[in-house]
Amino acid sequence: MNVTFIGAGPGAADLITLRGAKALAEASLVLYAGSLVSKDMLAHCRPEAEIHDTASMNLEEQIEQYRRAQKNGWKVARLHSGDPSIYGAISEQMRALDDLDIPYEVVPGVSSFTASAAVLKASLTRPEISQTIIITRSEGRASAVPEGESLASLAEHGASMAIFLSGAGLIKAIEELLTKLPPQTPAALVCKASWPQEKHHTGTLGTLLEGISPEEWRLSTMLLVGHALVNGEGAASRLYSPEYSHRFRKAARETAKV
Ligand SMILES: C[S@@+](CC[C@H](N)C(=O)[O-])C[C@H]1O[C@@H](n2cnc3c(N)ncnc32)[C@H](O)[C@@H]1O
Repeated sequence: MNVTFIGAGPGAADLITLRGAKALAEASLVLYAGSLVSKDMLAHCRPEAEIHDTASMNLEEQIEQYRRAQKNGWKVARLHSGDPSIYGAISEQMRALDDLDIPYEVVPGVSSFTASAAVLKASLTRPEISQTIIITRSEGRASAVPEGESLASLAEHGASMAIFLSGAGLIKAIEELLTKLPPQTPAALVCKASWPQEKHHTGTLGTLLEGISPEEWRLSTMLLVGHALVNGEGAASRLYSPEYSHRFRKAARETAKV
């Protein structure tokens, strides 16, 4: 028996990896976070698989499911939204599995921050603009943000920022960012990237809240911030420049000499 933690991706059933879908199709017991993982994803499961939504279960109740699976020799698929390594609350489950001597593995997934960039057709890195992405979250009731990681202090880097869980604290997050970043800084909200209900809204830190109701952007919303979001600002990467040589391609003028 083993447990596979699977990154389900941002929502759309075809944004799970092939490896994740295979592990899901082999599982006798499937646990999924119903608040964030689309039910469409369950189409990958065997018809006879036992499926539980963990939204209403506490940790001990989930561990009880792992114990049952161990007793029955079942394979378990544990679906987490996006990529399990980001705000996935997997470490407490892994500690319990270690205590029970149950082996586990992790299949990565498409995180909602890259899915949100895809919605905007945006690059989060651009030469001379930003080569760094700060992945962070606004403070929530379930998990405290460590000292030194406030949005204001992270904003000082001027890097691209992907701010998770910002929906409920959107106004506060933007106020905090504006203490360090100019109001002209490009910013975007993406809600439910890849779901049928997907929507997005772009602007600047100074204008983002104009014309929207923050209440409608509470759940499954990503806040992206930074100049890299705006196509057209900054230099192009030299990677595809005809003047640039690298291990796999010679610059045009060097090819001409041959
Ligand atoms: C508990 S975290 C899980 C993140 C997940 N592990 C990931 O890699 O995307 C939930 C937060 O992720 C973001 N999120 C999840 N799905 C999303 C989606 N489809 N579109 C936009 N943001 C999403 C929202 O900020 C939401 O509050």
